[in-house]
Amino acid sequence: MSNPSSRTPTERLEQRLPAYRDRVEDSLARFLPAPDTLPMRLHEAMRYAVLGSGKRLRPVLVYATGEALGAPAEALDRPACAVELIHAYSLVHDDLPCMDDDDLRRGRPTCHKAYDEATAVLVGDALQSLAFRILAEAPSAVPAEARAEMVARLATAAGSHGMAGGQALDLAATGRTLDLAQLEDLHIHKTGALIRASVMLGALCARAPDRQDLDALDRYAKSIGLAFQIQDDILDVEGTTEALGKTSGADARLDKATYPGLLGMQEARTRGRELVERALDSLEGLGDSADCLRDLARYIMERSS
Ligand code: IPE
Ligand code: IPE
Ligand code: MG
Ligand code: MG
Ligand code: MG
Repeated sequence: MSNPSSRTPTERLEQRLPAYRDRVEDSLARFLPAPDTLPMRLHEAMRYAVLGSGKRLRPVLVYATGEALGAPAEALDRPACAVELIHAYSLVHDDLPCMDDDDLRRGRPTCHKAYDEATAVLVGDALQSLAFRILAEAPSAVPAEARAEMVARLATAAGSHGMAGGQALDLAATGRTLDLAQLEDLHIHKTGALIRASVMLGALCARAPDRQDLDALDRYAKSIGLAFQIQDDILDVEGTTEALGKTSGADARLDKATYPGLLGMQEARTRGRELVERALDSLEGLGDSADCLRDLARYIMERSS
């Protein structure tokens, strides 16, 4: 029999992920409008963009952080779904011809290919409002003040000071050479902000989170958020279209600003690993209950999709 501690973080996580993924899939399927309600084409396209696949890293971070701080499980479903809906919206818009112009996402035609561009724009709009609705309606397990803070945090992470702002920086950087500080700033915004919000929303579901724990988790989240986009850049070069479920080599085709492009593959990997170590150091004061967060940090640079 294999010794559980001899498994890699990714193998340990693989055991836990299906339960989290099933839980978030069920909740998302409930929160999304039924496909047979009007306007049917829009509702069908919203479900197409969200359901069925995706790693669900952001909802898993909500659950793992909430559980690390003893938050009630039923309080975590809505924030977990809210962050995934914002993420799914960002992917739909990211793939549009006016942005990255991609045909494949999560192993299927992108939303604008399966439907049409106007529908894909509306899918993004509607997923974003749905995210805030389900968060604002969170059950009373979460006090009103914490709920308001969650809404504010998610809004900031999604908006022009977060993901949308990062996407603007990404478009402006296309075809230009950035320095490392500029590239880091771009990645922290376009990808890091929502990952940071996922951790914070999970923490805010805890009854009385300790200020020191919140600061530690925020440092953890900042490090893994940047590492996640570095590995995304690496996989765009090294991964296969089949494994990624999206077209590999897309960054080079569009002359995107990326870590391997600026630093080279070896240095990009080193930088990602340093960030994972920094994330683990941030969790030093948290006990065994944060082990899933530790595995998630390592998984971010070990993953192949
Ligand atoms: C892809 O995110 C876009 C980035 C922000 C890097 P994921 O790699 O989490 O995509 P899914 O959700 O698993 O499809
Ligand atoms: C996207 O970054 C970040 C988002 C906000 C969606 P990428 O453009 O690198 O994401 P992929 O590689 O298409 O998933
Ligand atoms: Mg992009
Ligand atoms: Mg893209
Ligand atoms: Mg990418």
